[in-house]
Amino acid sequence: MKIFVYGGTGLVSGKLIELLLENGHSVIAGTRNPSNQKAVKNLEWVKVDAFEPKDGLKALEKVDAAFLLSPPGYTAQYDILNPFVEKAKEVKLKKVVLMTAMGVEFAPPEAPFRKLELALIDSTIPYVILRPNWFMQNFHTFWIEGIQKDLKIYFPGGDALVSFIDSRDISKSIYEVITTDSWKNKEFNLTGAEAISHEQVAKIMTDVLGKKIDYVNVDPNDFLNSLISAGLPEDYSNFLLYIASALREGHSAPINNNVKDITKREPIDFKTYVKDHKEKW
Ligand SMILES: NC(=O)c1ccc[n+]([C@@H]2O[C@H](COP(=O)([O-])OP(=O)(O)OC[C@H]3O[C@@H](n4cnc5c(N)ncnc54)[C@H](OP(=O)(O)O)[C@@H]3O)[C@@H](O)[C@H]2O)c1
Repeated sequence: MKIFVYGGTGLVSGKLIELLLENGHSVIAGTRNPSNQKAVKNLEWVKVDAFEPKDGLKALEKVDAAFLLSPPGYTAQYDILNPFVEKAKEVKLKKVVLMTAMGVEFAPPEAPFRKLELALIDSTIPYVILRPNWFMQNFHTFWIEGIQKDLKIYFPGGDALVSFIDSRDISKSIYEVITTDSWKNKEFNLTGAEAISHEQVAKIMTDVLGKKIDYVNVDPNDFLNSLISAGLPEDYSNFLLYIASALREGHSAPINNNVKDITKREPIDFKTYVKDHKEKW
């Protein structure tokens, strides 16, 4: 198959592209900087900026299916991605796989991420919507500075349990549903196989890394201020604060078997994630 992948240099899309190429598919991938990307056989880069999607939309004319995710930092997910849904309809793609986030199914229909999901569901294009829980990888991306500088995880998660998912399991799930005809017109939340608290995260990191890592249950307002002073837009920072409060209330604790059902393997556990990324901290 030939597949369009949005945000091709990112965590989830990057691993998805590797899986597609390894298995003989070809890819057109979106990035804001196509000229910075390495030439790879069967992989073409096109310029896609959130509000400048022209070349990405044109690429849909040349592919069988598309994977869409909303670039982090923006709350206008519908405005950014609905043009791709419209174009997919026009060129009659065989499938669109959309990644949103666990909990979006409960958002009001006018909330941008939910509005996008509903637009895809109503589009008549064969679709799969995947809603992952919080990524394990956040501990070496978003929260890395506190861990490196102070050996502390700063997050307003209280003692809530979270069924964190390894982003490699998300990429593998997308790979399976996009390349297999029978997965269509379905929605799946994706979780890890265990739910653990941030205190337990700190304990696992301490054991694996051999240095004491502590969890600090920061005040939500301090968390918000730290996001804004780190340069995140205010609306996106408020969005993160809102989903962190849902986590604190226990909404990120449920566990399901969807990763195993789709990929036919056990989800990666948190200890394995830390071992595999040891050098990051
Ligand atoms: N982190 C979590 O815990 C979590 C949980 C559930 C759902 N999610 C969802 O996961 C998605 C992010 O996935 P990810 O972590 O794999 O992404 P990522 O690694 O942060 O990057 C995605 C790509 O988006 C591209 N991008 C950034 N700004 C852009 C812009 N203005 N216009 C166009 N492209 C842009 C970047 O590519 P270039 O720099 O090459 O342009 C980047 O490689 C979000 O939709 C988020 O809601 C995250």
